[in-house]
Amino acid sequence: MHVDLYERLWMWGAGAIIALFLGSIGFAAASQGRLPPSHVETIAPRTAMSDPRFADRGVSINPDGSVDVTMVAMLFAFQPNEIRVPAGRPITFRMTSIDVIHGFQIVGTNANTMVIPGYVSQFTTTFDTPGEYLIVCNEYCGLDHHVMAATLIVEEGA
Ligand code: CUA
Repeated sequence: MHVDLYERLWMWGAGAIIALFLGSIGFAAASQGRLPPSHVETIAPRTAMSDPRFADRGVSINPDGSVDVTMVAMLFAFQPNEIRVPAGRPITFRMTSIDVIHGFQIVGTNANTMVIPGYVSQFTTTFDTPGEYLIVCNEYCGLDHHVMAATLIVEEGA
């Protein structure tokens, strides 16, 4: 079959771009551990509030100094809606939703994940700069999506 030279060039160019994009996803996943935070741990949304993993919500400090934050997202709030964590220490956030898909973004930081009913979203990050940060839901979840927010207070390391 005869394919015109320019058409062949475009096909190879488009194919190369697709290969580059797919390759970059594979590279980020394999070499940098950039993975979807969800879909590794499941939970029943209806009973999540009483599930032992989420019954005790808030901030807890581990013996090694690392910090866990357990939160639940719901229409239209985060619970708890104010959390205090120390600066300069790894903070592991664990979250789930009891109703629809929400977002969790700490404005001005790299903390950003979807919060999906049926799954536990987990990520670890460190905040170096003390201060007050706004947490917003960045997935449209309903009429009061725009008021769904919380506060993170990063305190000078103890
Ligand atoms: Cu929750 Cu938007």
